Amino acid sequence: MPVVSTKSILDRAFRERYGVAAINVVNDLTMEAVLAAAEELRAPVIVQTSPKHVLLTGVDVMYAMWCEMTKHVSVPVALHLDHCPDRKLISECLAQGWNSVLFDASKLSVEENKRQCIEVVAEARQYGADVEGEIEGFKRTEEMTGDEAEHVQSLETVVDFVKSTGVDVFAPAIGNAHGTYKTTPHLDSQRVTDIVQATGIPVALHGGTGMTPEQFSDLIARGCAKVNISTALKIAFMQSGYDFMTEHPGEYDPPQIFKAQRAAVMEMAKHHIQLFGSAGKAWT
Ligand code: 13P
Repeated sequence: MPVVSTKSILDRAFRERYGVAAINVVNDLTMEAVLAAAEELRAPVIVQTSPKHVLLTGVDVMYAMWCEMTKHVSVPVALHLDHCPDRKLISECLAQGWNSVLFDASKLSVEENKRQCIEVVAEARQYGADVEGEIEGFKRTEEMTGDEAEHVQSLETVVDFVKSTGVDVFAPAIGNAHGTYKTTPHLDSQRVTDIVQATGIPVALHGGTGMTPEQFSDLIARGCAKVNISTALKIAFMQSGYDFMTEHPGEYDPPQIFKAQRAAVMEMAKHHIQLFGSAGKAWT
């Protein structure tokens, strides 16, 4: 069971300049498929859980699934709580055993975000867990106006936030958004370089679904060690189910549809792991 710290996965990737796929799972099937993809490619991977799905499944059930499924995994893996503004849920997940959390206080002022993030980091450290921080929220792709990259905090503010809070990884807005981009997004890659140089910590790239291979390799080379993928998993999971039922009308045998969905999610995860350069990078 090589469940390791998120920081140990990211620091190594950051040093060697490859990207680790941080994939949001939605249930047991997708969790198992992502772990199986990482195992097959001998890649480290971060399994992400959004508050919505943690609450839907239950903190204890989700964590029990994780423990059982990682018992025989031989590549480095970590469990991460994605975009969580809820301090209570953060505390519950940390106490249960999550390896890291993204404290999402992007709706609060930077000062208040910083004040609370210092507390979250202190709490996480009690459990040997790590923290991702953000000070600029991410839009959904359908809300994009094209000038996202301009509405960001100054480098000075980012450096002060990172240094004061002690977060292990930082998620900047660079023109990225969650969902399905209508066209290739215009990304401020220089901002990643500036932040990496000024803070010395890895950057988390959000809104990975729909970025081009060139964008991924450029941003990973600049220090985006954590590359978030969520929408692509939802599409693979749901579309494969839909396709199965279309191709097999009247076949109501759940294991058959599960098989098709598992294959599609594994394929999607393997595609991204290979694209980010983390295949073969497992060290345990
Ligand atoms: P996508 O849904 O665009 O892949 O973004 C994932 C993400 O950043 C999760 O935090």
